[in-house]
Amino acid sequence: MPQSGLPKHVGIIMDGNGRWAKQRGLSRTEGHKAGVEAFERICEYAADIGIPHLTFYAFSTENWQRPQAEVDAIMALFRRQLDDIERRKGENEQKRWRIRYIGDLDDGGPVPRDIFLRLRDMEAQAADKDKTIVSIAVNYGGRQEILHAAKRIARLVAAGEKQADALCLQDIEDGLYTAGQPALDLIIRPSGEQRLSNFLLWQSAYAEFWFSDILWPDFRETDFDAALEAFAARNRRFGRVE
Ligand code: FPP
Repeated sequence: MPQSGLPKHVGIIMDGNGRWAKQRGLSRTEGHKAGVEAFERICEYAADIGIPHLTFYAFSTENWQRPQAEVDAIMALFRRQLDDIERRKGENEQKRWRIRYIGDLDDGGPVPRDIFLRLRDMEAQAADKDKTIVSIAVNYGGRQEILHAAKRIARLVAAGEKQADALCLQDIEDGLYTAGQPALDLIIRPSGEQRLSNFLLWQSAYAEFWFSDILWPDFRETDFDAALEAFAARNRRFGRVE
């Protein structure tokens, strides 16, 4: 882990669960289960070293097109995670990170209703500002998120609360699911792919990218450290000249 220059907000695309399972002759569901273990490992470690914001891409708006059995298995993992959070309330309070869910989580959407209701309840719970905020993106799309922010602005303009000509970048920021959080500093994508896949499009305007061939279930603390070291060595200019 670098001595200084830690990112404030890291985005992680948890890719490669399917290939990891295939290599071992296991079902894709087993790959996703191993993916959840890697998720927990990295949350624990990132919170220990003091990264304040982590956002994980768990289920995109496009992932509904996967075979129904796989969609159901991933939804079952969300249910299990929610059960765990409820059952281990005391234990979770000791943890240095807390979970929230982001994405298109409106009522009547494709997220199963029982899950939707529980996600909404969790969001209503008090935020613990001293802990690492782990956001899990579910039914998430970056373009859809920007559309969501645009609709909010349109409503404000229609209600006379904002002037169209006076709109600024902050008005869009305020309508994002990540409103109030710092911009993304670093995006980690394992498993050999080098694309954003509609993840945090707005927030990644000046993010640094770190790619690796490791499949997500194999991702360890040492890999996270390697990404942090690479990040700390980058020269970020944000469009300026030094
Ligand atoms: C990408 O790997 C992974 C997903 C689309 C799902 C990720 C979901 C989880 C890890 C489980 C739910 C998470 C939590 C935190 C409860 P892939 O299936 O595209 O892998 P492949 O590219 O090798 O096929």
